[in-house]
Amino acid sequence: MKLWKGRLSGTLNQTAAVLNSSLGVDVRMAQQDVSGSLAWARALERSGLITKEDLYAINGGLETISKELANDHFAFTESDEDIHTAVERRLTELIGAPAGKLHTGRSRNDQVVTDFRLWMMCEIQALDAALQDLQRELLERAESDWGVILPGYTHFQQAQPLLLSHWWLSHFWALQRDHDRLQALAKETAVLPLGSGALSGSGFVMDRFALAADLGFDAPSPNSVDAVSDRDFALDFTHCAAMIGLHLSRLAEALILYSTREFGFITFADEFSTGSSLMPQKKNPDPMELVRGKCGVLIGLQTGLMAVVKATPSAYDKDLQEDKAPVMQAADILAMILPVSAGALRTLNVNREHIAAALDPAMLATDLADYLVEKGVPFREAYQVVGQAVRWSVEQGVALPAITTESWKSLHPAFAEDVKEVFKFQRAVARRASWGGTAPEAVRLQMERARQVLGLKNGAKPPK
Ligand code: ARG
Repeated sequence: MKLWKGRLSGTLNQTAAVLNSSLGVDVRMAQQDVSGSLAWARALERSGLITKEDLYAINGGLETISKELANDHFAFTESDEDIHTAVERRLTELIGAPAGKLHTGRSRNDQVVTDFRLWMMCEIQALDAALQDLQRELLERAESDWGVILPGYTHFQQAQPLLLSHWWLSHFWALQRDHDRLQALAKETAVLPLGSGALSGSGFVMDRFALAADLGFDAPSPNSVDAVSDRDFALDFTHCAAMIGLHLSRLAEALILYSTREFGFITFADEFSTGSSLMPQKKNPDPMELVRGKCGVLIGLQTGLMAVVKATPSAYDKDLQEDKAPVMQAADILAMILPVSAGALRTLNVNREHIAAALDPAMLATDLADYLVEKGVPFREAYQVVGQAVRWSVEQGVALPAITTESWKSLHPAFAEDVKEVFKFQRAVARRASWGGTAPEAVRLQMERARQVLGLKNGAKPPK
């Protein structure tokens, strides 16, 4: 017998019943459904709609159900089309008549979003913790790889030298924005829909503020129609997930390239590498490639959910049942790719000699121009002069540092003996000393700021 049988006399077509069922997905919100029902029963009692005895019976029954669910002893039946009907059916079996009073003034429309929000509030915390673990790994890399100078790329062409620590931290701050987004999402999610009924509000007057506090929400929703139809929190979740995926994918992409024989900057640990079934020599970065690939899936989940929600015109429409699968799938993907990324980072080896060998002195061309600027030459003129020198060096096959001081002087009178100093990568890095630059002193401050935002003790591990 269906809960919603009401006016219908025929039975639902079998395939339509399969389509209608969401139990396979919303079973993951079972404990939240129990918590929501417990709070609702308390609210009913406070409003005088059920007796203390009813509440006592409902309480006992729901606690038994919670234990059955936790121990995997809860027996689902054919007729359970979603977690809400399953819990109510089981409660009736356990306590009889008082179970029939629990749904007073409540609809599955306000119930389902309440459960979903409760589930997500919990998930956001777990996700944020995994995100911060990864941020800690990036910070630790910045600390342990201190002093390494890496070619910095734009357009994937060597541009200017960078401290590797600075590069690691560039990914740290992207994840920090994800953390901020998750915090905002947690706030958005903590608005309670329960008490909105099917769409117009509960038929019985309730203190929804007390109900919200009881369930750990910040406040009750201000509009019942919006409350049962709003899925922004779910869309914002898939958006946050896609953004995290996107950041992990960019990092993975760079590391995959850096791990190639052609770059040789890093080597992944065997723990985060796979082989080939045919080619015995192969060591592949499959885990990182999957991080990159899963990002594509995450973007698809966000797009898919938007397409579901865009055509729901009136409070609750059944399309909205399709909201949970993409959110849960996104959460599951992140629960894998965040720790895998952290593990791969922790265990990879930085090949300092390969990195040093890859540094092209042409990356110091800006510093040569800046050198002339310091001698009083206007930047545009300095830029032209150094441009000529670079062209000449490429044509003649003579590296910039091999050009004699005499030749520099003949190119521009402002050049002097100290031009040799410019051809030190350390010098180029050290010059970028403003806040946010790659100079060691600036990066030290940046690392301190990073430790601060993670809530770590300041100066816990000062780099040498
Ligand atoms: N299983 C449904 C869902 O996930 C619960 C709400 C059902 N409401 C309804 N009016 N049929 O959305």
